[in-house]
Amino acid sequence: MEKKVSKIGVLTSGGDSPGMNAAIRAVVRTGLYHGLEMFGIMRGYQGMIEDDIYQMDSRSVANIIQRGGTILKTARCKEFFELEGRQKAYNNLKKRGIDGLVIIGGDGSFRGAVKFSQDFDIPCVGLAGTIDKDISGTDFTIGFDTAVNTAVEAIDKIRDTMDAHDRIFVIEVMGRDAGYIALHSGIATGAENILIPERKTNMNDLISSLLEKERRKKLVNLIVVAEGDEFGGGNNVQAILKEKLPNAEIRVCILGHIQRGGSPTCIDRLIASRMGYHAVESLIEGRHNVFVGILNNKMHYLPLQDAVKNKGKISDEWMKIVKILAS
Ligand code: ADP
Ligand code: F6P
Repeated sequence: MEKKVSKIGVLTSGGDSPGMNAAIRAVVRTGLYHGLEMFGIMRGYQGMIEDDIYQMDSRSVANIIQRGGTILKTARCKEFFELEGRQKAYNNLKKRGIDGLVIIGGDGSFRGAVKFSQDFDIPCVGLAGTIDKDISGTDFTIGFDTAVNTAVEAIDKIRDTMDAHDRIFVIEVMGRDAGYIALHSGIATGAENILIPERKTNMNDLISSLLEKERRKKLVNLIVVAEGDEFGGGNNVQAILKEKLPNAEIRVCILGHIQRGGSPTCIDRLIASRMGYHAVESLIEGRHNVFVGILNNKMHYLPLQDAVKNKGKISDEWMKIVKILAS
């Protein structure tokens, strides 16, 4: 018979994402509702190793649902890659009697959780908190919707200048090695071209279409590039285009970390709240070493190690839509 969970630790790890606070709030309040003791672990796995852990009550998570970033702070932690580091972390949890962990982070944090759960007897549940949406098995990750909306708002503003000056704009968005932010924000802002790592881009075709537009004196063109694209991001794309289109005015804008911050959208608050609730339910029900995903608006649980499998799939239909709508 599985031992019942009584004390749960929650941490945020890797890159922060808007909605992490809403998830922490949901985890803590759901645990308290069930009479569990709840602990916040500061700076992800780093705080676990350094014993930077404190007990949380309902007030600890008051007034945070609307805030970006994470009250628990976050970090990338080299020591956790080594068994010795994970052993230190385990000892710190053990001495407090923490017998369940909720990890809010991206695929790297999930990899760490898989290692930890293989080494030690503390069950882990993951919540996908990343703007990149690079976790398979879920339609949403916490922070993606906010990041895309931030990108859309910024690109809309840039479009005004693009139109006023007849310019070509290359806009680089984040996403690490995933193109979802580029794809979603690009379609939503009517980009003529969207360059993403999951698809090869025929640069000759792209240049020909720009030259054709130049002939027709239509120099306005919006190109959204994912930072992880094959050409190496916005600056490189601008350099290639400048060489082939010496008469065109081509500007580049790298949106950068504005995409990671800000108050979470309603959708991010909602999925963070639902996922946080289900993470605790999952630990209570003895469903261990899984992550909580949402597919077709239904919550489901998948093994943590599956989160990082089969990434990089973007269906042909998406690309067809981009092409047709840009014509
Ligand atoms: P994200 O979770 O946003 O993808 P990272 O890839 O930087 O961010 O991972 C966050 C942290 O997770 C790392 O700094 C490390 O502490 C831990 N981690 C990542 N991969 C592993 C691994 N293979 N083994 C142990 N820990 C890992
Ligand atoms: O994973 C989130 C993310 O913002 C990626 O989109 C980006 O590549 C990376 O983190 C940037 O990391 P840092 O904030 O460490 O520069």
